[in-house]
Amino acid sequence: MRRFILYSRIGYTGPFKGSLLDAGRLDTVYQCILTSLFVSHGIRRDVEFHAFLYGKPNPPLHLIVDGRTLHDIRIDENTWKETLNKVLSGGTHPGVSICKEGIEVYAKSLNEYYILNEKGEDIKNVNFKDPSFFVGDHVGLPKKFEDALSKNGAKKISIGNERYLAASTIDITNYILDEKGII
Ligand SMILES: C[S@@+](CC[C@H](N)C(=O)[O-])C[C@H]1O[C@@H](n2cnc3c(N)ncnc32)[C@H](O)[C@@H]1O
Repeated sequence: MRRFILYSRIGYTGPFKGSLLDAGRLDTVYQCILTSLFVSHGIRRDVEFHAFLYGKPNPPLHLIVDGRTLHDIRIDENTWKETLNKVLSGGTHPGVSICKEGIEVYAKSLNEYYILNEKGEDIKNVNFKDPSFFVGDHVGLPKKFEDALSKNGAKKISIGNERYLAASTIDITNYILDEKGII
């Protein structure tokens, strides 16, 4: 099972009316959901996507999109705006859930985890078994949290010297793991 974990420092934690962009950059969350979980005409059933939302009005919230149970969903922005609004309003959707939890608590439940960072070790040289990947939002991971992960043994790994969008980073990581045959 692959896990992608996005730290969204301003992602809204309640229902919203405007665009995903104006809801604390939930557009980044939406884009990361697409690249984590969708392939052409299919869903990656072996991937979980997690976003920790630290925006107003009720932070933190833990959003989970589980490829094993995700159904009745399209890939367009409007569909995801509706779906995110639904779960942020207390509603449900198959494979999409929300709970009240911070990222530090969740990190403690993981065994094998990595920080995606352009200054890390080349991802191609790393042997993965059951990996979880922490990804920063448009600003990057908070230094304090990144340092705490490193102190607990998380390795920084890189997909190259360029600084990519969070969603592109996930897409490229999925591709490299596909090539390596890691589930
Ligand atoms: C848009 S980047 C963040 C850029 C931000 N301005 C910064 O200084 O961190 C979003 C996230 O994508 C990941 N990322 C971007 N480029 C990467 C690379 N070459 N290798 C690994 N991860 C990368 C990192 O997790 C980063 O926090």
